Amino acid sequence: MHITPSELIDPFGRNIDYLRVSVTDRCDFRCTYCMAEDMTFVPKSQLLTLEETYFIIETFLALGVKKLRITGGEPLIRKDIDKLLLKINRQKLLEDYTITTNGNRLEHFAHTLKTAGIQRINISLDTLDSAAFKTLTRTGTLHNVLRGIDCAIAQNFKKIKLNAVILQGQNDNAVLPLTHYAVSKGLDISFIEEMPLGNTTAHNRADAFMSSATIKRMIEEEFTLAPSSHRTGGPSRYWSILGSHSKVGFISPHSNNFCADCNRVRLTAEGRLLFCLGNEHSIDLRQAIREYPNDTKRLKDFITASLHLKPEKHHFNDPEAPQIIRFMNSTGG
Ligand code: GTP
Ligand code: 5AD
Ligand code: SF4
Repeated sequence: MHITPSELIDPFGRNIDYLRVSVTDRCDFRCTYCMAEDMTFVPKSQLLTLEETYFIIETFLALGVKKLRITGGEPLIRKDIDKLLLKINRQKLLEDYTITTNGNRLEHFAHTLKTAGIQRINISLDTLDSAAFKTLTRTGTLHNVLRGIDCAIAQNFKKIKLNAVILQGQNDNAVLPLTHYAVSKGLDISFIEEMPLGNTTAHNRADAFMSSATIKRMIEEEFTLAPSSHRTGGPSRYWSILGSHSKVGFISPHSNNFCADCNRVRLTAEGRLLFCLGNEHSIDLRQAIREYPNDTKRLKDFITASLHLKPEKHHFNDPEAPQIIRFMNSTGG
């Protein structure tokens, strides 16, 4: 993918060609590892308009970004998201155009996403047990998501990947059923170690921690895994599930620091450009574009000049490091 370097090279020599854009911090679920039960969301007046979001994305494309992921919160609850997605696709500049969703509205959006040129979809799914699903998401209904997944499969996307955050004592018994489900549907699946973003009250994060190595051993009780060189430009490390079309990925921010290969920055719904999921360094693009509307050259220079802020790595394992108060929903995963 990285044949032509972007104009965005950070002080550690990393080529930034991947932009993750959160279009809303709101969500129709309240997953316990992601949000508090009672969340305060960004007032709508402080969000970027979709025109502003598009202007920023367009500028990143001009700077050489080749991979774009639309996230949230839940991106499919943002009004007129379909129009934004179509407009981005008209540029025909992306090598990888993707979205991360909780799947709740996929039944209604799968066709729209396909028409808008989305190539790959990541769908969060942490359990196949409806009661556990309700407990983990607080508001979700498993059936809706499973129906949504089937609708997405019917649209023949290049790839659909499931994302499962596994918490010891809560959904560790879902590892094998989820793997069987992914194999039966021909999907890939990634297991994610929970990250300490925001203050969750629902569980103690140290007690709930399940390492990727433990999860991999569980899977190997019933499947044979072979190392795979497959990479998507994200932090997941993949293994092929022999005898199937599926791969299993492990996103291991604790047990395997992948920051040396980091190729991404994140745009939040209110227009902050974040340089790392695990650090607070950011610049305010909303203010920049409201001060100088439609000034692409100025925005390009502002972004390029800000790259020295990109930190070398996250500090999730350092007990002395300050707690990140941002919840995942305001960052965009
Ligand atoms: P691909 O683009 O297909 O590689 O997907 P992905 O797995 O990177 O993206 P997805 O949106 O599915 O993200 C899954 C999870 O990976 C995120 O929610 C985060 O938990 C984690 N993740 C993604 N990027 C980073 C990163 O830069 N740092 C850390 N610490 N975690 C990340
Ligand atoms: N740690 C790890 N992953 C998280 N996600 C949300 N909050 C966290 C967290 N604290 C995951 C969701 C979704 C992706 C966008 O982020 O499960 O798959
Ligand atoms: Fe919503 Fe995704 Fe957060 Fe769950 S993980 S509350 S689905 S944004």
